[in-house]
Amino acid sequence: MINKPRGTEDILPSDSPIWRKIEQAAHEVCRLHGFKEIRTPVFEDTSLFQRGVGDTTDVVQKEMYTFEDKGGRSITLRPEGTASLARSFIENSFYANPQPTKLYYLISCYRYEKPQSGRLREFHQFGIECFGGTSDATDAEVITLAMSFFERLGVKNLKLNLNSIGCPVCKKAYNEKLKAYFEDYKDQLCETCKTRLEKNPMRIIDCKSEVCSKIAEKAPKMIDNLCDDCKEHFEKTTAYLDALGIEYEINPDIVRGLDYYTRTVFEITSDALGAQSTVCGGGRYNGLIEELGGKPTEGIGFAVGLERLIMIMKAQGLCNDNDSATDIFVASIGDKADIFAQKLVYDLRKLHIAAERDLCGRSVKAQMKFANKLNSKYSIVLGDDEIDNNSAKLKNMDTGESFDVELTAEKLAEIIK
Ligand code: HAM
Repeated sequence: MINKPRGTEDILPSDSPIWRKIEQAAHEVCRLHGFKEIRTPVFEDTSLFQRGVGDTTDVVQKEMYTFEDKGGRSITLRPEGTASLARSFIENSFYANPQPTKLYYLISCYRYEKPQSGRLREFHQFGIECFGGTSDATDAEVITLAMSFFERLGVKNLKLNLNSIGCPVCKKAYNEKLKAYFEDYKDQLCETCKTRLEKNPMRIIDCKSEVCSKIAEKAPKMIDNLCDDCKEHFEKTTAYLDALGIEYEINPDIVRGLDYYTRTVFEITSDALGAQSTVCGGGRYNGLIEELGGKPTEGIGFAVGLERLIMIMKAQGLCNDNDSATDIFVASIGDKADIFAQKLVYDLRKLHIAAERDLCGRSVKAQMKFANKLNSKYSIVLGDDEIDNNSAKLKNMDTGESFDVELTAEKLAEIIK
C-alpha cells in the first residue's frame, strides 16, 4: 500500500464543509475590506525565497522543498505567500495603480519541518498583503481584518500579541547590542546560531533549540531600543487598536521567523492549540519590494494557518456544519423504472434539487435503508404502475407522512423547495 507522504493530510469529505465555511468567511471579510483575491504559482524560482524570506531563517536554511527541474533551474515549492505576492506586485507593475494594493490568497504551503500536532509539511494559509499603504492606519486595518475573520467564524479566546522590531536604522544599533550579549554565550549556541551571530543575531531569538531559546530569554529587547520614528509608529498603531476596542498584549519576544519584517509584528495565539499555539502571524515589511528589485513600497500583511484554525474550531465545537444533505432519494423497481429514475434525478438536479438514486443494484428494501443513511429529506419509490399512472407517493422521511404527487421534476421540485 502507498501511504500519503509524512506531514501531509487528506482533507476528507467529513471535513470539507468546515474548509468551505472558512474559505467563504475569508472571501466575505476580504470583500468587505476591499481586498482582491490573487493566485500565484505553487513553485517559484528558489532565489525569490532566499532573497525575500532571508537566507539566515530556518525556513530557507532547513525547510525548503527545493529541486532542480529538467531545465536545470532551481525551483522551490512556496513555503509561504508573501514573497510570491511581492514578486507578482513588481512583475505586474501594480505600483502603477492607485495605492494601496490590497490582495488576499488561500494557498497550500510546503516546509520540511518535523511533523507534530499543528505542524505539517503541506499546510494551508489564508493570507492578506497590503502594499503601498503609507498611513499608520494600515497596520490597524490589517490587524482588524484578522480579528473580524475570526469573529465571523465564532472563534473565541484568542490572544493578539504585538511588538515592534524597528527599522534598518534602529535594528543596526540593536544588532550590535545583541551581538555583544550573545558573544558571552557563543560556545553554548547551536551551530546554526553561531553563524547567525555574525550575519543576523536577531534570528537567534527565534531559534527552536532549547539551549538557544533559554539564552535568548534575557537578551536585550528590540522594543526598548526603537528609534523615535519607529516608537511613534508603534504608539499610533496601538492608539488605533485602543480606539477600536481591540485587545492586545505587547510581547517583546515576538521577532517572527522570516527576515523581511520591519516595525509592527504580531501573532495571534490560542490555548486550544498545543506547543504550536500561533494560528496567525504577520507584520510590516517595508524593505521587501525593494529587496526584490521593485521601487520602495511599504507592505504589511498576515497569514492564518488553516489546519491550526480548524483544530481550534473543533475544540470549540464550531465544526458541526453539514451542507451535503440529500433532498430526495429516488428508488426504483424494474428496468423501465430504472431508466425513468435516472432521467428524473437528472432533471431534478437541473432544478437545484440534490437528488440521489441507487447505483449498486440494491433491492428496494436496501435502497430505502440507503436513503436513510444519506439522511435524505424525501424519498419516492418508482415501479411500472407509478410510471404508467404518472403518479407516485412522496414520503417525508422526517415525519413518515406520504402523499400522492404528479411524477414530473417540476412538481416534485416545487414541493421539495
Ligand atoms: P508564518 O508565521 O511563517 O508567517 O506562518 C503563518 C501561519 O501559518 C502560522 O501562524 C501557522 O498558523 C501556519 N503555519 C506555519 N508553518 C506551519 C506548519 N509547518 N504547519 C502548519 N501550519 C503552519 C508567514 O507565512 C508570513 N508569510 C505571514 C505574513 C503575511 N506576514 C506578512 N504577510
